[in-house]
Amino acid sequence: MILIDGKQTAADIREEIKGEVSELVKQGKRPPHLVAVLVGNDPASMTYVNSKERLAKKIGFDSTVLRLDETISEADLLKTVDELNRDESVDGYIVQLPLPAHIDEQKIIMAIDPDKDVDGFHPVNLGKMLVQLPGFLPATPYGIMELIKRYNIETSGKNVLIVGRSLIVGRPLSILMSQKREGGNATVTVAHSRTKNIKELTLKADIIITALGKAHFLTADMVKEGVVVIDAGINSIDAPDTKRGYRLVGDADFENISKKASFMTPVPGGVGPMTIAMLLKNTLQAYKLVES
Ligand code: GUN
Repeated sequence: MILIDGKQTAADIREEIKGEVSELVKQGKRPPHLVAVLVGNDPASMTYVNSKERLAKKIGFDSTVLRLDETISEADLLKTVDELNRDESVDGYIVQLPLPAHIDEQKIIMAIDPDKDVDGFHPVNLGKMLVQLPGFLPATPYGIMELIKRYNIETSGKNVLIVGRSLIVGRPLSILMSQKREGGNATVTVAHSRTKNIKELTLKADIIITALGKAHFLTADMVKEGVVVIDAGINSIDAPDTKRGYRLVGDADFENISKKASFMTPVPGGVGPMTIAMLLKNTLQAYKLVES
């Protein structure tokens, strides 16, 4: 079994971007600037945003976090988004999700300038992806495509099963992998909560991508010998024997499936670190839209 090391691959990608940024700065240009908007104090969101800020700075980006109170009105958040759209010092920004219940997420996403939408969540960018025009790809699917590419995993003509149809992972990935492109040309099936007899599908799959957020959903009896498993799930489970009291696991039972798989991502250290690396790559791309 070949371990798909997302942690190392993400570090490689960050090094590549860092090299480009240092060249730009040497030429007297300003560095790219990423802004993250964080509303409220959801612990997971705070962790993600802190990592995004830290890693952006580490590769030489300017990085700003706008921390807004969870009571902010939708109108005021829309005002912030409008300001970011106009601010020429900002190349790209993200609004960390989920947002508090009184704010319509889709309305906020729709207000983001598609040229600064480095999360790739705006319908304009999703539409560009669909017709294969240049735009921003959502970071997690983009990261999975990059792992497939860097590990030379053959996808052409393969049976790919994507478990989960979220707008952030499953749905965009199903489009990318069925397209005529590197990492594509696959026969893609999307399974979700209404799917019947999922085991029949998993047993036929050459490549399984799980993105549903259910700890150890995929077990070894559900996969065939030589399967490729890419696990985009991050689930917290109780672990009283650890200092933190919890442990992060994926949607797939790594310990047992790894004995049958040809390639597999671990959790943590698989897909997760790739998401931020691809966000940074998108931000460099946004910078290039205005700076060259
Ligand atoms: N919440 C969970 N993942 C993401 C992400 O990739 N971007 C944003 N903005 N929010 C998220």
